[in-house]
Amino acid sequence: MELTSPALTLDTLRARVLSCSKCPLSESRTNVVFGEGDPSARLMFVGEGPGEVEDETGRPFVGPAGQKLDEVLASVGIDRARVYITNVVKCRPPGNRVPTRSEMEACFPYLEAQIALIKPGLIVTLGNTSTQWLLPSAPGITKSRGTFFTWRGGILLLPMFHPSYLLRYPSRERGSPKYLTWLDIKKVREWLDTGKAPVGG
Ligand code: URA
Repeated sequence: MELTSPALTLDTLRARVLSCSKCPLSESRTNVVFGEGDPSARLMFVGEGPGEVEDETGRPFVGPAGQKLDEVLASVGIDRARVYITNVVKCRPPGNRVPTRSEMEACFPYLEAQIALIKPGLIVTLGNTSTQWLLPSAPGITKSRGTFFTWRGGILLLPMFHPSYLLRYPSRERGSPKYLTWLDIKKVREWLDTGKAPVGG
């Protein structure tokens, strides 16, 4: 079945991705990490690629970075079960290296199909890799975080720091990555509450 077929569902897509061998990451993976969450979520998070714990469990963002993401969500009362969480690549890059362009290209039709099926109103990209993959013209994450963009003319897209970056910089001081992430997730909360992207801040 074509990935753009109207008959495609998240379940048939998942089955397809689980047996994917389009790129070399399929050879070293333990499990494919397809993504999880509410299939009709308004809010979708897109990370870079599975890490070690994700590869072992087949679930996205369940290792240390995932725990940090859960904390960020909880700080504004967002229930992880009500959002959808996935990655640009569905198989772990060995040693957690950044996925290559050709790996991301091979996997991208799956992310595009997930977005088309879930139809989120807002995509939060976590870190530079997913931000620049979806929006090549966006400035680096330090500049782009906290700014609302639109993706393909319709869906809002908000870059935020990757949670693993927050693990490296534990300070909560004004201007720290954690502090800036708290400003950003509050914008997400506001969008969930009002349906509008807050301006400024
Ligand atoms: N980092 C990511 O980018 N994705 C995960 O699923 C886990 C860690």
